[in-house]
Amino acid sequence: MTDKLHKSKALQFFRTTAFDRTTIKTLKKPEFSLEETFKTYPEARQIMLPRTSWKLQEARIIPLFQQRRSLRRFSSEAVPLADLAFMLWASQGITAQVGNHLLRTVPSAGALYPVETYISIKRVDGVSPGLYHFNVRDFLLELLEEGDTHKKCADACLNQQFMEAAAVNLIWTGVARRCMSKYGERGARYLLLDAAHICQNTIIAAEAVGCGGCPVAAFYDREVAALLGVEEHEELPLYAASVGKKSKTQESR
Ligand SMILES: Cc1cc2nc3c(=O)[nH]c(=O)nc-3n(C[C@H](O)[C@H](O)[C@H](O)COP(=O)(O)O)c2cc1C
Repeated sequence: MTDKLHKSKALQFFRTTAFDRTTIKTLKKPEFSLEETFKTYPEARQIMLPRTSWKLQEARIIPLFQQRRSLRRFSSEAVPLADLAFMLWASQGITAQVGNHLLRTVPSAGALYPVETYISIKRVDGVSPGLYHFNVRDFLLELLEEGDTHKKCADACLNQQFMEAAAVNLIWTGVARRCMSKYGERGARYLLLDAAHICQNTIIAAEAVGCGGCPVAAFYDREVAALLGVEEHEELPLYAASVGKKSKTQESR
């Protein structure tokens, strides 16, 4: 395609904020002053929020939020395929049809769903290790590359070692045209927001099946795109997460 997408400000933003092995060595500390983590309006009238009167029906979700911690030490146990399927369904599964739109578990600007999911599988019962694509419409995995793809994932993500030990690594890309053809430059924001919804649903679903996950946004953009075999200015690497079973000590926390 030779239209203006690759010259858009949004893609320039992605290019200027991309990590690569050369420029990362010369990155300077940001020259922006620090802002406190918690903002308060001390003079404002305050209304205390109740912590204990939540209804029992809603309470089933409370431990999932309470116990979620970024998990970087995984048990060597395999993840059952049914558990992975649940996480993928929670991440983007189709839940309704309205007109021509197939709506999903996550919201998406304009119901355009520009985010694609790739899965590097190392230990999932009954599934050969390799790199897969999640086909959302037909709810299945498409094998793209067989073998151990975890090392390549870890390497492309600043050599974060826990990714090699995870049962599964998920990588989310944004198909820029799917969103920007409607929303223009602003669509780039929506790509990032969509990915955040998807990652959070995945991680909460992981908690629900006795797994844990760690989000990953530190990666060499071009290397991730090459690993997935996608054109980096069309399908932008956005986000990733490692997922695996918790070790017994972590389960009892
Ligand atoms: C946008 C984003 C990017 C992150 N990237 C990484 C990463 O590359 N590597 C990593 O180990 N953790 C990463 N994290 C996890 C944070 O370090 C973690 O959420 C934070 O320390 C709070 O801890 P908790 O998640 O256990 O509550 C990321 C989290 C977010 C939201």
